[in-house]
Amino acid sequence: MAEKSVLTPWEVSGDVDYDKLVKEFGTSLISDKIKNKLDKCHPLIRRGLYYSHRDFDKWLEAHEKKKRVSVITGRGPSEKMHLGHLIPFLVAKSLQEEFDCEVFIPISDDEKFYVKPNLSYEDSMKFSYENILDLIALGFKPGKTFIFEDFVYTDIYKYAARIAKRITYSTAKAAFGLVPENNVGWSFYPAMQAAHILFPQFVRGKHISVVPVGIDQDPFIRLTRDVAVYPEFGFDKPAALHSKFFPSLTGGAKMSSSEGIAISLIDTPEEVKKKINKYAFSGGRDTLEEHRKLGGNPDVDVSFQYLKMLFEPDDKKLEKIEADYRSGKLLSGELKQILIDKINVFLKEHQQRREKAKKDIDKFLFKG
Ligand code: TRP
Repeated sequence: MAEKSVLTPWEVSGDVDYDKLVKEFGTSLISDKIKNKLDKCHPLIRRGLYYSHRDFDKWLEAHEKKKRVSVITGRGPSEKMHLGHLIPFLVAKSLQEEFDCEVFIPISDDEKFYVKPNLSYEDSMKFSYENILDLIALGFKPGKTFIFEDFVYTDIYKYAARIAKRITYSTAKAAFGLVPENNVGWSFYPAMQAAHILFPQFVRGKHISVVPVGIDQDPFIRLTRDVAVYPEFGFDKPAALHSKFFPSLTGGAKMSSSEGIAISLIDTPEEVKKKINKYAFSGGRDTLEEHRKLGGNPDVDVSFQYLKMLFEPDDKKLEKIEADYRSGKLLSGELKQILIDKINVFLKEHQQRREKAKKDIDKFLFKG
């Protein structure tokens, strides 16, 4: 029997029908025409993890007309970061590199504090700090990248309040699936995230921003687009780029640390090796003979999918790995080893930049 599937910004379970979401939400698929307009089309977009959008064509057009454009995407700091959490930020960074635009990164420590029953106020602040180090380590441009925490940059409240006044409880309830048992923080938070998304316009004036984000976050985008055009704001509707979830190691719909086997950004090389070898779902055959004869299936192989999404940007090299795996020339263990080496090279550099980020935090915090 098909598992019941649930998808809200705070809960994902069961199978996710991505095409259906595009229809339900009324978004558009990312076309080749759009991809061709990007000189540095990030593999995450080129190879389809990002698959849907709202008005991204308008964002590109605004840039062509030499108008201001910006990128905004946030992080809910409920835990240390793992590979899956990087997805929106890698795309934000690649847009910044290509278009030299400002990037705004709100850290919703309030959101995670409300939503996670066991997360203390102190821990949510601690995770904010840890996560900010990871974000800075990705290599955003100082002076063009602005990070702020809801609990620290409390000026955000004055924008959130103006938005909150325009959202009825019944709208929030319907859009986010609120239930009576939720604390009232949940019902206010959508105004806060809308304030994040409109923040570039509050502080820089009316212009179009794009929000790279998981498709589960689209209810926030819809709400914010409605609010943006209220006469008292008179803003542009924000655009969005929607991704599918980054698959978990075991092949589940979404990488998650609650399964205990996500690849954390502070994992050691040994931990990475152990996790991939033990848990990464393989599209290989049961025996060596069968694998050599029939070949493996890269479409379901998590190691191959990780290479495709994040770790092998070179199309020729990826094609060769795919062909060799399909033909049975490349074994599952060998494919895993390719991924392990790539992840460990990435993490070694990331962890060095993360250390360095401790001294750079101040350069990235929004000061107003
Ligand atoms: N709610 C997002 C999450 O849980 C994080 C977030 C906060 C965000 N503010 C945002 C995402 C603004 C996009 C835009 O992952």
